[in-house]
Amino acid sequence: MPALLVRDLEQVVSPAGGPAPLRGPALGELGVLEHGYVLCEGERIARVGPMDELEAADIPADAVELDGRGASAVPGLVDCHTHACFAGDRAEEFALRAGGASYEELHAAGGGILATVHATRAAGETGLARALERHRGWMLAHGTTTFEAKSGYGLDRETELAQLRAIAAAGGVPTWLGAHAVPPEFPDADAYLDEALREVLPDAAKLAEAADVFLERGAFDASQARRYLEACAAVGLALRIHADQFTEAGGIPLAVELGARSVDHLEATGPDGVRALGQSNVAAVLLPVAALFLGRPMPPARALVDAGAVVALATDFNPGSAFCESLPVVMSLACTQLGLTPAEALAACTINAAHVLGRSDRVGRLEPGYSADVVLLDASDWRYLPYHLGGEHVAVVVKEGQVVWER
Ligand code: NIG
Ligand code: FE
Repeated sequence: MPALLVRDLEQVVSPAGGPAPLRGPALGELGVLEHGYVLCEGERIARVGPMDELEAADIPADAVELDGRGASAVPGLVDCHTHACFAGDRAEEFALRAGGASYEELHAAGGGILATVHATRAAGETGLARALERHRGWMLAHGTTTFEAKSGYGLDRETELAQLRAIAAAGGVPTWLGAHAVPPEFPDADAYLDEALREVLPDAAKLAEAADVFLERGAFDASQARRYLEACAAVGLALRIHADQFTEAGGIPLAVELGARSVDHLEATGPDGVRALGQSNVAAVLLPVAALFLGRPMPPARALVDAGAVVALATDFNPGSAFCESLPVVMSLACTQLGLTPAEALAACTINAAHVLGRSDRVGRLEPGYSADVVLLDASDWRYLPYHLGGEHVAVVVKEGQVVWER
């Protein structure tokens, strides 16, 4: 593979702030290099520096050059929480919600997540892979070069494992969301968990890197979540929890006690939860699109950062509560609704999101040794990314040293 030199960039931007994850004031310490270059060799970044220090001798003879004039470069974005592996859509439900029905009512009536379970089971492994490939393309076009995706729309052995295989095949980081909802063929959550842990976990553990549970009224309670997560931890999976989306149901204390990687959502989190996360290593993954899409309060992002918590941002991309694959939109919401600065928002969906996925040594920074994942923006000021709400400034996406998408 020839080397790739992106030259004459107006700005080269990368989270600074020392070792990951970044917390407190370090979250906003961005390195902005004016008039720079990024040299990729193989799948890695070899050098980053100012143009006036780039010597001809530094440039490999076979290097392909990309003209960065008028453009800025940020690290490939990292989406650490998606449900991108689904079939069908929920456009009808969207219309019902617009007419006043609530997300929780639709879920209780057997729609919502279970409607997508029905469509996903019916799609077959090939149909599912095709749907994920389409969604993957949408994410790439918005600058996402690393994505996590969860199962949780199969809720049976065959479809859960098919989801995890499809996610891995698409280059995603697979999370087993075996405890997303109770499927209709089971009388209750405990009966479902008995079977899922006995029949699915042993194989899911070979495919997934983490396990996740929807801890919420109408889904799984704290003791069921504990049982599920302890079984998953015992076979080496990292732990994540959908917590405090609608109610504070004990997700944060459970995550702290079990040493979970993250708690995600937190729209209903109060001051005690903020304090607990500030003193722990559990990351708070905030999903402002889900709050916006469902008309929920925004999570207490500013308070979490100020309390010293590890904060990351993600899309929650899914057909029901957040049909949006765009991390630039998430960054806009972070700056306009969550009280974060553009620099904090960028770090939260690059290096800190990479930390949530156990990859902060490899992705999320433009630094020598990191994966050559680079997003070129057709704007000389990188802050257009969050500033231009719904703007489309992602011009070129480089993954592992190769151009994989161009506008
Ligand atoms: O993170 N809240 C639970 N799970 C997803 C939504 C899934 C769906 O509605 O299909 C979420 O918002
Ligand atoms: Fe989610």
